[in-house]
Amino acid sequence: MNALRFPDDFVWGAATSAYQVEGATGEDGRGPSVWDTFAAVPGNVKDGDTGDPGADQYHRYGEDIELMAGLGLDSYRFSVAWPRVQPTGTGKPNQKGLDYYRRLVDGLAERGIRPMATLFHWDLPQELQDRGGWENRDTAARFADYAEIVFDALPIRDWLTINEPKTVVECGYRFGSHAPGFTDDGRAFVALHHLLLAHGLASQVLHEQHRGRRIGPALNLHPTYPSDDTPEALEAARHQDGLENRVYLDPIFKGFYPEDTLRWISERSPMREHILEGDLVTISEPIDILGVQYYTPVFVDGSGERVFLHEKAQADWLEIYPEGMYDILARLTRDYPSVPIVITENGLPTLDVPGPDGRVRDEGRISYLRDHLTAMHRAIGDGARVEGYHVWSLLDNFEWAEGYSQRFGIVYVDYENQRRIPKDSALWFREVVKSGELR
Ligand code: FCB
Repeated sequence: MNALRFPDDFVWGAATSAYQVEGATGEDGRGPSVWDTFAAVPGNVKDGDTGDPGADQYHRYGEDIELMAGLGLDSYRFSVAWPRVQPTGTGKPNQKGLDYYRRLVDGLAERGIRPMATLFHWDLPQELQDRGGWENRDTAARFADYAEIVFDALPIRDWLTINEPKTVVECGYRFGSHAPGFTDDGRAFVALHHLLLAHGLASQVLHEQHRGRRIGPALNLHPTYPSDDTPEALEAARHQDGLENRVYLDPIFKGFYPEDTLRWISERSPMREHILEGDLVTISEPIDILGVQYYTPVFVDGSGERVFLHEKAQADWLEIYPEGMYDILARLTRDYPSVPIVITENGLPTLDVPGPDGRVRDEGRISYLRDHLTAMHRAIGDGARVEGYHVWSLLDNFEWAEGYSQRFGIVYVDYENQRRIPKDSALWFREVVKSGELR
């Protein structure tokens, strides 16, 4: 096969998030977040794991920057922990928290690595949760205040607002598997609206105060398909597409919620009452980039049940289907073409164990990445405006309710001593980055 060449200015990177890698949850004035609270409850997280020690990046960021430089990465996507910056979610910033991110950003700059920062990757300050969390409209306004502090403090061009609002809605409020751990559709969709409002408000702040910088959401988009060709399955797939994709994309790109999905939501949630005049104008503040996270497709049968038609990964929600990467990019290019796309996450957990020689042979991850990059390359050839790709994750880390049992890193972390070992996939990725080609 001929090598597949990527555009010369294509940006290659890796991603992490604060609660998953930083550790140090009690240091330098950081306040508690909903994830500290959630993980402290026995039974919520596998083996009782918590965000400590994570990958201890709070102390080892210097080493991690060297690691990234060694892999030739152009970009590092990380998140800023709101409770480090504002321990209670409001008020005066905690300078020590801001200083940490400043050191990180400066260190990246010294090595020629661009920072891409996510403002919210699920670690809501607990005190804001106590005041109603995302069900409380005020949280969106507080988020805009927090964003303003961070924009002023950090010299970063590219920003992401909310990481995967859908996961907060679905796992946090509908299924209860993530913080804050509710199982209540009524509350879930109210939270959805306020998460999008927060996205819009922060985007407006950046545009008003920092021209030339860019901002957008990081959405986990799941291409949806009928599992058979009955009209019922087709209809169920269309409905599922509303919940997975359109209910996030339409308000942001077009300024309205999709009518069919809103009708379904209204049968189970008072969300509509929380949509005030002007909100959709705020939410549809034009974005500059779209962060796309692709892991899995969703196939549904005529009764709307999810059906798995392909091999599953260690994560039981992750069906391996590289075609989905092509399909979601092609769909965005067709239906939401106005902004460039950055792949902000894509990756696979595997049961990695260092061999006697110390090497971590993660062939499964290499073939997953290869197949997904191939699909992405084809989408670019067909017109998708993808300007960069971040593998999830740079490092093994705290995988939410799965704790440390699922390793997504291209770099292995030995949690006993925090030693990092680049896995075979990291060495493979380094070649892709260096050559700009998939062979
Ligand atoms: C995404 C999250 C990220 C990580 C990966 C596996 O949903 O954004 O933090 O957990 O899944």
